[in-house]
This record gives sequence, structure tokens and C-alpha cells, in this order.
Amino acid sequence: MTAKPFDFTPLLPADLPPPAPKWKGSPRYNFTGGNNDPDQVPVEGLRAAANAVLGREGRTLASYGLTGGPQGYRPLREFLAAKLQRDAGISCTFDDILIVSGSLQALDLVNHALLARGDTVIIEQDTYQGALTRLVRLGVNTVGIPLDGEGMRMDALAAALAGLKRRSIRPKYIYTIPTVQNPTGTILSEGRRAELLKLSEQYGAPIFEDDCYADLVWDGRRPPAIHAMSRTGGVIHIGSFSKSIAPALRVGFIVAGWDILSRMLALKTDAGSGALEQMVLAEYCAPHFSEHVPALRRGLRAKLDTLMEALNEQFGTAAEFDDPKGGIFLWVKLPDSVDTLKLYQSALAAGVAINPGPEWSTSVAHSKSRMRLCFASPSHQEIRDGIALLAEVCRKEFGVPARIANVERRARA
Ligand SMILES: Cc1ncc(COP(=O)(O)O)c(C=O)c1O
Repeated sequence: MTAKPFDFTPLLPADLPPPAPKWKGSPRYNFTGGNNDPDQVPVEGLRAAANAVLGREGRTLASYGLTGGPQGYRPLREFLAAKLQRDAGISCTFDDILIVSGSLQALDLVNHALLARGDTVIIEQDTYQGALTRLVRLGVNTVGIPLDGEGMRMDALAAALAGLKRRSIRPKYIYTIPTVQNPTGTILSEGRRAELLKLSEQYGAPIFEDDCYADLVWDGRRPPAIHAMSRTGGVIHIGSFSKSIAPALRVGFIVAGWDILSRMLALKTDAGSGALEQMVLAEYCAPHFSEHVPALRRGLRAKLDTLMEALNEQFGTAAEFDDPKGGIFLWVKLPDSVDTLKLYQSALAAGVAINPGPEWSTSVAHSKSRMRLCFASPSHQEIRDGIALLAEVCRKEFGVPARIANVERRARA
């Protein structure tokens, strides 16, 4: 007699998210996610760093939090404090930094500290899916602010804040990815950063600055962080090593005043993020970060050029996009007749994965025919072949592009 399988279903709380799908392996051509270029992971440097730091300090792994306390490995926080001062103009010490398990954990901690069901937050209209899904799950109202070539539009933000105030609503934060925005690839200009701070102070809405792509600006020049420009401390700044070194390390950080950092530390109940990754990163980054990142940027820029060439060749004028200021994504507009949620399904069946626009936006109307393509992880050849296949699938399903690689085809053959 076989035993009846145990049924957990009646025990699950009502507000549990739906079950995760089983992973079925990577598609042949993968333009999704925030993955990095495998050839650019500094494997030898990390190996040497691991050897050195374990030889010298390996026994400190015997204690939770090593010897540096619950905020994370102290040499990594010291490296970050110096780097943030040099690159982003942020004046902070290691004590203002909390190391977390990827900046996704930072999103959770900020949300947990500030949000309750029914609250309102302001975000960019096209934004990071990971931020958006968290807010939906928490039952928080989102107000999306449109972007243009300079990032979030301050006229639209001012109008939204005034509208909320008329309804006696104080937004819990204004979330922005100001330096190489995901997915649009824009950079919020310094002037707009100043305007944003003014509005934030005027309406008492703090700024949540997600700066994980800040190292990937093509020319290496970035405006000061909003956190650096604030006179009041009303900015929570988060960052990550996922885009500059490797996402699987799962190391991110939060910079904020102790009044709010202490509330987030109290919510970080995992007894500290993985220490080995922090130790290896600190050992590697102190001497090598500033030579690694420009090489990484050059490689990513070359892949972006390949992607834009492939789109021009395969889609012609049917694919519209702005040359992003850095990062790993291209945000592409297809003709209005294309529904990228449907394109996503048929492309996946053919072996090409894309991110459909509506999953990265607060506005379905605006994003229905848009898609996000990550160009960092596929090889140059995979980019060319994958885009050619995507154009075939798109033409079959939507009749566009009418011409592929400059050869006229009959739609819906
Ligand atoms: C804007 C933004 N924030 C946060 C994250 C999360 O990154 P991680 O948890 O790897 O640091 C990502 C990942 O793609 C992102 O694009």
C-alpha cells in the first residue's frame, strides 16, 4: 500500500504568493534577467583573493558576523565608503553601511521598514520588475511617473505629488533608479536630481535611490548620487556588486542614517549575509575594482553595438530604441500591433527569451509593444542569431517586420 502524500495546502496562509514554477533550464538565446557577461567575471582575481583572505582570516568564520559586527565585513564596508566618496560624492563611514544579500534584500528591508498595505509610493513608470512585483504583493498603491531622455520627468512628479496631497496622501517614498535606469538606460541629470530633492523635501516624501548600475556608465562619468546632494538625510541609497562583479555572489548594500538603518538592521533576521563572499570581494576590490570596471564596460558596450546592429538589420525601422547611457539593457519599442506578452510566449517556444514590456511598467498601454533585452550574458554570435530568430517569430505572429535583413517577405506565410 502506498502512503497518501501529505497535503500542505490547507495549512498555507491565504496571502501566500503563488507557487514558484520549476526551473526548466536556460533558453538557447537568453535576453532576460540582469545577468552579466561570463567572460568578464574576474575568476583568477577572485581565486587569488579567496586564497589570501582565507589563509589570513579564515578562522574568523567561526563567529556569526565575523569580528566586524552585524552590519557586515568591515574591510568591505571601508572599501565601499571610500568608493562611494570617490565616485558618487557620498560622505559616509563604514558605520553608515549595511551589507545585505543582494540589493533585492535591500528592497525587502526598505519596504518592510516603511510600508503597510494600502500605502502609496511613487516610482518611475517603466521600472525594475523586482521592485514592482514586491509592491503589488504588499498591497501598496503605485503612482508611475513617465520618463524622457533625462530620466524621471519632474513636471509629472510635481503634478503627482500635488494631486496626492490634495487627497491627503503622503507617499512613503519616491523610488528611482537614477543612474542608468532599468529598463530605459537613462541618467537623471544633476539639475533634475536637485529638483527631485526639492520636491521630496517639500512633500515630506523620502527618496529611495537604487544605484546598482552606477558603475556601468559608458564614459565612467556619473552625476553625484542623490544621497550625496541631500542636506536632510531623507535619502536611502542602495547598491550592489551584481552588475560590477557577479550577481551570483549576492552582495549588496544600504547607505542610510542610523535612525532608519537601525530599523532595517532589526528586520534583517538572517544573522548576517554570507561572509565568504564579502571577504573575497573586499580582498579583490580594494586593489582591482578600478581597473576591472572599465574593461567590463568596454566589453558590454561592444555587445550593445552588436545588439543594435542586429536589430537594425533584422527589424529595420520596426524596432525603435535610444542608445542607452550604460548598463546591460536595451528598451525596444516595436510597432503598436505587437503585443510583447504574446511575442514572449512564441519566442520562448522557439528558444528566445525576452522580457515583455508590461512586466516592467506601471502602464500596460505604454509598454504593450515594448520589450527589454539584456545584452550582457549572450555571446556576440548568440545576440546575432537570437535576434534573427526573434524577428522570424515576430513576423510570423504579427506580420512585422515586413522586411528581414533587407529581404522582403510575405507576412503570415
Ligand atoms: C534596479 C535593480 N535593483 C535591484 C536589483 C537586484 O540586484 P541584486 O539583488 O542582484 O543586487 C536589480 C537586478 O537586476 C535591478 O535591476
